[in-house]
Amino acid sequence: MTENRKPFRKAIMADHQRARIEFDPRFTVADVPERLFGSFVEHLGRCVYTGIYEPDHASANEDGLRQDVLDLIRELGPTMIRYPGGNFVSGYRWEDGVGPKEDRPRRLDLAWGVTETNQFGLGEFMKFCRTVGVEPNMAVNLGTRGLQEALDLLEYANHPGGTYWSDLRRSHGDEEPYGIKLWCLGNEMDGPWQIGQRTATEYGRIADQVARSMRMIDDKLDLVACGSSSRGMPQFGAWEAEVLTQSYESVDYISAHAYYQPEGGDFASFMASAQDMELFIDGVIATADAVGAKLKSDKKINISFDEWNVWYQHAWHEAEHAKWVEAPRQLEDVYSAMDAVVFGSLLITLLRRCDRVTAACLAQLVNVIAPIMTEPGGPAWRQTTFFPFAEASKFGRGKVLRVNADAPAFHTERFGDVAALHSVAVANEDGSITVFAVNRNLEHPLTLEIDAASLPTFSDLTCSTLTDEDPNAKNTLENPTRVAPKANEDITVKDGVIAIELPAMSWNTIRIA
Ligand code: AHR
Repeated sequence: MTENRKPFRKAIMADHQRARIEFDPRFTVADVPERLFGSFVEHLGRCVYTGIYEPDHASANEDGLRQDVLDLIRELGPTMIRYPGGNFVSGYRWEDGVGPKEDRPRRLDLAWGVTETNQFGLGEFMKFCRTVGVEPNMAVNLGTRGLQEALDLLEYANHPGGTYWSDLRRSHGDEEPYGIKLWCLGNEMDGPWQIGQRTATEYGRIADQVARSMRMIDDKLDLVACGSSSRGMPQFGAWEAEVLTQSYESVDYISAHAYYQPEGGDFASFMASAQDMELFIDGVIATADAVGAKLKSDKKINISFDEWNVWYQHAWHEAEHAKWVEAPRQLEDVYSAMDAVVFGSLLITLLRRCDRVTAACLAQLVNVIAPIMTEPGGPAWRQTTFFPFAEASKFGRGKVLRVNADAPAFHTERFGDVAALHSVAVANEDGSITVFAVNRNLEHPLTLEIDAASLPTFSDLTCSTLTDEDPNAKNTLENPTRVAPKANEDITVKDGVIAIELPAMSWNTIRIA
């Protein structure tokens, strides 16, 4: 805290703007679900091979997991990891990835046009989850496969022993069942790119059958039905309605996937990407609740936002890709400071809506549109997006509070006027309060005033800010620490109001302890 107001970048004082928020720790939206800070490991590019798993790496442990990457994952703080896809799962035979490694087949992976060696599979994934301390979230293949293979996989994973599949697991060295609770019933099954694409009626029916049968083996499962692949799909809404009409009583979640990138140089709309995520959540909840109402059900279906991120998809679609190579560099987006701020804003939305978004996965974890990058045989480092996730996972635990906000407008082509300030407040379990705040404005700083009148006395007030003079600044192999959050000392407290200077285009974590 200081009276010395030294701005991060040159403030355009003539256009200086103010926003004000107020909240009361007694008025809450919901408890932050443990599964909100999930991530995703797909057999795609170098996420698995030379990402988390590289037996020849100098830092590899006895399971072939890179210790340098494990350390960064722990610092990032994911709570749950989805596996093994993604599009990959729709052509995957899970049996290929278990048992002695020398016997595992090499296969064509049609989803990504590469060769899969199967040197990493379910057993290795479970070791990884145990080592990091995260909940596994396993997807079954409903593209090239169906009910029987899903049941075989569940029996292998969760049945204690005395049957063919469970004893096979034990013979592979895993005496204890894995106890995987959270399962995705396929992936993006409405996508024309998906191996085994289905209609909503076909998919809803198979999802219902698989869900009901899986529960016969294990009645403690949480099951995710596929929603549309994105809000932009022509069948969005109608798909959710039909799938849930078929499967409402047998599943727990409907999935949502969203990726954002600047379109045609429209960076203002990009900064407001979370508006689209909000509308997406509204649409899925309205549809799910309408189905529930029609069925006269007491049950609520929540959202598993199991793929979300910034992803420069145009670059991927425009590039040439070598075919059938092993673990090539695919989807290795290098994120800028601006990307990190947009990313943080998406996290704010997930927190704000965590009464109904009760699971979410940052897609993905390492190398593939990821917060952590590695070089084969070389170092690992943090992308710009690493920091908002790590701070949200560390300080965004407890109860989300109702926030009243008054903020200046920020104009965008795509969404019209939106609030320049995007924020959420969380009452942490230790009695402190954390406010996450994004200033979406690309040019103007914002003075954020927090009405402290309803807060208990506080003795410690800090703000960590991620921004950069250059919105395109990135962390790279050559310069891995170019962008990182810094302590923002531009805070004052006067007459029960906390005032913090939020630089233009910034992600801010304010801790009131
Ligand atoms: O995360 C990358 C890909 O995006 C996933 O495989 C797929 O589910 C989505 O289209």
